[in-house]
Amino acid sequence: MGGQYDFRKGYALDKDAAEDAVDVKQPYIDNGTDRLDPKRYYSSGFMKDEWDYMWTKTWNLAGPVSDISDPGDYFLFELGRESIIITRDNDGDIKAFYNVCPHRGNQLVSEEFGSLKRFTCSFHSWSFGLDGKCDNVTDEETFRPEVLCHDHDLTALRVGVAAGLVFVSMNEHVMPLEEYLKPLMAQLSSYEIDKMNVISHIRSEWAANWKTGIDAFYELYHLHAVHPETQAVMEDYKAQYDLFANGMSRMIVPFAIPSSRTGNQESMNEGIEVMLSDAGLAPDEFPVSAKEARVAVQKGKRRLSDKLNLNYERYTDAQLSDSFATGIFPNVQLGCHPEAIFIMRFLPHPTDPEKFYYDNIVMFRHVDVEGYKPAAWMGLQEDIDLTGQVRPDIIHISVDETPDLGLVLNQDAELLPFVQKGIRSKGFKGPLWGEQESRLRHFHAELDKYIAKKGL
Ligand code: FES
Ligand SMILES: [Fe+2]
Repeated sequence: MGGQYDFRKGYALDKDAAEDAVDVKQPYIDNGTDRLDPKRYYSSGFMKDEWDYMWTKTWNLAGPVSDISDPGDYFLFELGRESIIITRDNDGDIKAFYNVCPHRGNQLVSEEFGSLKRFTCSFHSWSFGLDGKCDNVTDEETFRPEVLCHDHDLTALRVGVAAGLVFVSMNEHVMPLEEYLKPLMAQLSSYEIDKMNVISHIRSEWAANWKTGIDAFYELYHLHAVHPETQAVMEDYKAQYDLFANGMSRMIVPFAIPSSRTGNQESMNEGIEVMLSDAGLAPDEFPVSAKEARVAVQKGKRRLSDKLNLNYERYTDAQLSDSFATGIFPNVQLGCHPEAIFIMRFLPHPTDPEKFYYDNIVMFRHVDVEGYKPAAWMGLQEDIDLTGQVRPDIIHISVDETPDLGLVLNQDAELLPFVQKGIRSKGFKGPLWGEQESRLRHFHAELDKYIAKKGL
């Protein structure tokens, strides 16, 4: 491990990857070595700047298209102080509206999901079609026409769909979504997220700034200390970190191989054996050395492609075995696998810079084959409905409750409030990021472009 480390090269998983391969190592982007003022993690002023110059200017992931498959379906997207309705109208078009009645400002919708023919306000029963047009003003004759001359339809936002996901923007002049996501599109669309459904959704409140959350999930550097058990089954040191335009980034984490930090990549262990079984290998097909398990998983999955109808042939070898943790600026990381996408979303608190909501959404591709089970490492509960027939409710966990998010995430949840407290100390002068933390520097550099009003 270690030895010669060239930060401009880092580690590339496939040194011979074609230039247009989805997993090819990206050229180094130099974001410098500055130590940033830690106020960004706790000051209300910085929080306000983020709202004025970043959140309201950029694209934001609202949710999956599969949550609004039929006309009239809607879901709410709560972002900071705003509440946004995402719906599908009778023409099948996806629309986004601020969740506010133009009459006196009452919130129109309170349920997180639903299906309606129209939106009716609970205050004076004005109503609005799925296209946002006002179709009833109660006692209209009692309004002077000059009042109703003012626009009284719902206020729409920019909306776009990419890779089975709905994005919205409060900025009328936002760059086209295709351009915004361009660096990631080939990879994201390969996962066919539009064929997946939400099977689990947990939103927990954490006592930390949303960026403290992002920072913790954008690197593998902490795994050996905080999640030592992961070292049996994944490479947390020679991972591939990639930076892209528009603040996007990713890390490709090799699975089914013990960490090179362990000093022993030969000995088999139970975790890797389970991964081999999950890839359809019989025990007598298991390789002798753990080092060969990752390739065995890739081959095992290819063998299952037709049977499971999972189109494994469209993926590179690394996509079959590894986690492609992909950061969409500003606040999303998608853990991409052909069988499931793990959406992590870091939602800012409406008023408190030292709280955020950690949204954990699992999207799963239903496999209609007798006996098929999701891989054990996904940690899905036994009784979960995998068919995608019923969209599960969001489970909300307040900051005072101890979240039960599974071992690894619980470890992060316990740690982060201490990081947040430390960041606030007079003794802390700002983060000293290494190159395993290059994604953090890249993300903050992009944020600073917005704050300096140089963003979109
Ligand atoms: S506030 Fe909505 S109808 Fe009056
Ligand atoms: Fe972690």
